[in-house]
Amino acid sequence: MLILGKEVSKTTRLEIAEKVKEFEAKYNRVPCLSVIIVGEDPASQTYVRNKVLGCEEVGMKSLKYEFPDGTNQEDIANVIRTLVADKNVDGILVQLPLPKGYDEKYLLDLIPETKDVDGFCANNIGLLALGTPRTISCTPFGVMKLLASTGVDLKGKHAVVVGRSNTVGKPMAMLLLNANCTVTVCHSKTTNLEEICKSADILVVAIGKPKFLKANMVKEGAIVIDVGINRVDGKLCGDVDFDEVEKKASFITPVPGGVGPMTISMLLYNTLMAAQDRENG
Ligand code: GUN
Repeated sequence: MLILGKEVSKTTRLEIAEKVKEFEAKYNRVPCLSVIIVGEDPASQTYVRNKVLGCEEVGMKSLKYEFPDGTNQEDIANVIRTLVADKNVDGILVQLPLPKGYDEKYLLDLIPETKDVDGFCANNIGLLALGTPRTISCTPFGVMKLLASTGVDLKGKHAVVVGRSNTVGKPMAMLLLNANCTVTVCHSKTTNLEEICKSADILVVAIGKPKFLKANMVKEGAIVIDVGINRVDGKLCGDVDFDEVEKKASFITPVPGGVGPMTISMLLYNTLMAAQDRENG
């Protein structure tokens, strides 16, 4: 069965839009997300456009700062510092990856945990690791919402995460562990990947290789979540060979229309939460 991220996302955004109205009535302003993008990478441009459109959809304000590749890093740092000090800005997001030559850690470390709506900073990742999360990284958070939409009890299930990035794989593994799954994390150096994937009740694939996961790596009845967004011959496809794997999976996310829309919905949710927390001191 298909997990329709677009549909789950629509419901989530309607709920957020309602809460934004209540927020505005109470505080006489709307939550505000600022987005910084450096360079002309077409995929990043599309993500940022969709983030801005997402803000409009739920009635939030967005500020977009675009810098050409080659902009002095300190100029970007100064914009971030200004946004940190701006009491009308609730969230600050630096679109990743940054072009070569920029120090990602230096720029991200300028964002305080209270405005870190991506959930990337050490404190937010640490709180998640301790099982007491505050702001949760948007993509893994969205995947948990999609898993919840299946109605399947996650407790005791073997969840396999393919990919160990700080933005998806690691927080994904921690969320599944917090949901009482037995979790295995695989990566490029894993030797028996096929065997491990085949033992998974839940498979989350986030490695950025088009159609990497084949049917022979999937157990009959597994839930398969495809985090990949790859462009092949002008067409979008995931990290999962959908046509093959669909036949074996009990639930599977399509690309596009699966995880992607949920990521942005959770970003909007995180921005609303950050705004509420700031108003409540
Ligand atoms: N690039 C790809 N996904 C993301 C994300 O969730 N946040 C940021 N900041 N950059 C990304």
